[in-house]
Amino acid sequence: MTEPIRIHRSTTRKPKPKDADLGFGQIFTDHMFVADFQEEKGWYDPRIEPYGPLSLDPATAVLHYAQAIFDGLKAFRGVDGKVRLFRPQKHVERLNNSAKRLCIPPIDPDLALQSLLKTVDIDRDWVPSTVGTSLYIRPTIIASEPFLGVRPAKSYIYFVILSPVGAYYPEGMAPVKILVVDKYVRAVDGGVGGAKTSGNYAASLFAADEAKHQGFTQVLWLDGVHRKYIDEVGTMNIMVKIGDEVITPALGGTILPGVTRDSVLTLLRDWGLKATERPIAIDEVVDAHRSGQLKEVFGTGTAAVISPVGELAYKGRRIVVNQGKIGATAQKLYDTIVAIQYGEAPDPHGWTRVV
Ligand code: COI
Repeated sequence: MTEPIRIHRSTTRKPKPKDADLGFGQIFTDHMFVADFQEEKGWYDPRIEPYGPLSLDPATAVLHYAQAIFDGLKAFRGVDGKVRLFRPQKHVERLNNSAKRLCIPPIDPDLALQSLLKTVDIDRDWVPSTVGTSLYIRPTIIASEPFLGVRPAKSYIYFVILSPVGAYYPEGMAPVKILVVDKYVRAVDGGVGGAKTSGNYAASLFAADEAKHQGFTQVLWLDGVHRKYIDEVGTMNIMVKIGDEVITPALGGTILPGVTRDSVLTLLRDWGLKATERPIAIDEVVDAHRSGQLKEVFGTGTAAVISPVGELAYKGRRIVVNQGKIGATAQKLYDTIVAIQYGEAPDPHGWTRVV
């Protein structure tokens, strides 16, 4: 699609929050990006318009069968005042991979990239500047056809909304307590665990809620077949450091291909450390803890970047990791990624894109 992006600026401006008051995903900017899809036309009428509600027929397919995908990335205001997006092309690639799995028509990657850059540009005053804060960008596609038959919809809406954010977890980078669940699973082989689709998050709520009631921040999911191999932690990829090696479950359909996951593996390998992608049994983690070899456990994700795990509870047993403190590897990864994001350190892999 070569149609230019139409711009309809908002005539009013919302008050902006103070950086210190920012939580996660509660406040939205003045504008949003929207494009429509119809079978006969493809994606059309890309536009930036004032932020506001979508009007949907109650029969709209997404409301019934969750044919929806999204992604999440961030824009940062650097120490030099420049606004940078972190790995936007990689997020566009993932958005289209998720689209494919959900029978959603792909978006021209150039248009998708422009949708992110232009919307952030229009609302650039909303990018907060304190380290730890950013503008979270949420591209989303929903099936918009009013139809109750179960089949891929014939029409879709793509939109991008922006939200100034602080830390994802209220505890910030403080190590979290995690419950290992073997009663519920988030993904199965052949399922949609590898796609960023809304239903995965709805399906995770019950277990997360139970964990919260028991005093944990999140759950550690095990694989859906054997309930034996570690899968993801909450909404994040998981990494364990055993001895000198960092291990994370291999991608292969059940694991979301995290952009932070990829960045962490790249950095670890740049530093000459051993970073391995393979199945890890929860028993291996327990054994490593017993023998004193379990050095660190941490989650990786766009929202929190790195989230150290201070304690795991599995089958009534408590596994305290690194005395409940942030590990050196997790801290170095966090510091390095954040320094690249805020333009404080060189960006040897070309991960950032200035707006
Ligand atoms: C992330 O870690 O970026 C996530 O996937 C969380 C998001 C769904 C809020």
